[in-house]
Amino acid sequence: MKRKRPQPSAVKPEYLLNRVAVVTGAGGGIGQAICQRFEKEGAIVYAADITLAENQVGQPYEIDVTSEDSVNVLFDDIASQHGLLHILVNAAGIEIEKTIEDTTLDEWNKIMAVNCTSMFLTSRRAVKLMRAAGSGSIINFGSYDGFIADPQLAAYCASKGAVHALTRAMACDHGPDNIRVNAVCPGYVDTPMLQSFLGSSGDAKANIKNNPEHVQKALNDVHPIGRCGQPDDVANLVNWLAGDEARYASGQLWIIDGGLTAQVQQMKL
Ligand SMILES: NC(=O)c1ccc[n+]([C@@H]2O[C@H](COP(=O)([O-])OP(=O)(O)OC[C@H]3O[C@@H](n4cnc5c(N)ncnc54)[C@H](O)[C@@H]3O)[C@@H](O)[C@H]2O)c1
Repeated sequence: MKRKRPQPSAVKPEYLLNRVAVVTGAGGGIGQAICQRFEKEGAIVYAADITLAENQVGQPYEIDVTSEDSVNVLFDDIASQHGLLHILVNAAGIEIEKTIEDTTLDEWNKIMAVNCTSMFLTSRRAVKLMRAAGSGSIINFGSYDGFIADPQLAAYCASKGAVHALTRAMACDHGPDNIRVNAVCPGYVDTPMLQSFLGSSGDAKANIKNNPEHVQKALNDVHPIGRCGQPDDVANLVNWLAGDEARYASGQLWIIDGGLTAQVQQMKL
């Protein structure tokens, strides 16, 4: 008698089934894509942002990630509802398009607070809940700007360099508790932050208004793969890092940029 081959299951098991996840910056371009992907993969998503998106996916928490009290409200709720946490994505971020000469001390402190201090506030609450879960994955948003610099983004570049160093330090400290810590470092990704950056300086500002196709083509052309990134491209990497397939990945800075930073700038002869 011919033996029947086992049929592949029609429904693929969800990669993050029943994992409890916090995403900050959840209302932003990349944050929304992550929340959608996590929910699709079966996670229980807590979506935190100072301004949430319309039709926000996940349990909405309108919080300021620079405020300890505000962060504690979210983590106290998770502690009482679940007593554990598996995934933390620190994606909240802001940009200030200035040189250091033009940056005020308040602006400097604000960008450091949103882009870096927030990760200290959320992660130290998360670590305890991840220990209770037996494992965890923390994903911090760095940037290619933590490696190389765009003009007029001095404080932003400094904040992302700090995120990269913090990521490595946390990975060393919490690895023994089976908590992995990685940074995702995007290149140009088509979100409100990128539009604000493109609209902030000289020629691009004028061109974006008068000839947006020209700006889009110029943006695409600096990438070896011929296009800038979409939020989903980044969410794919975050999703992998969040789950068990990435169980050996920790303490690393994952650049995702369509090859942008692999290529030396060409001379314009
Ligand atoms: N888009 C890019 O090209 C790019 C490139 C490199 C790195 N990044 C990083 O990726 C992350 C996500 O960026 P994005 O492109 O989705 O930007 P975005 O501006 O679309 O989203 C950022 C989100 O952070 C939220 N936020 C700001 N301050 C906050 C606060 N105090 N408390 C709570 N939430 C706050 C904003 O409301 C916003 O929804 C950021 O850390 C950013 O620095 C983006």
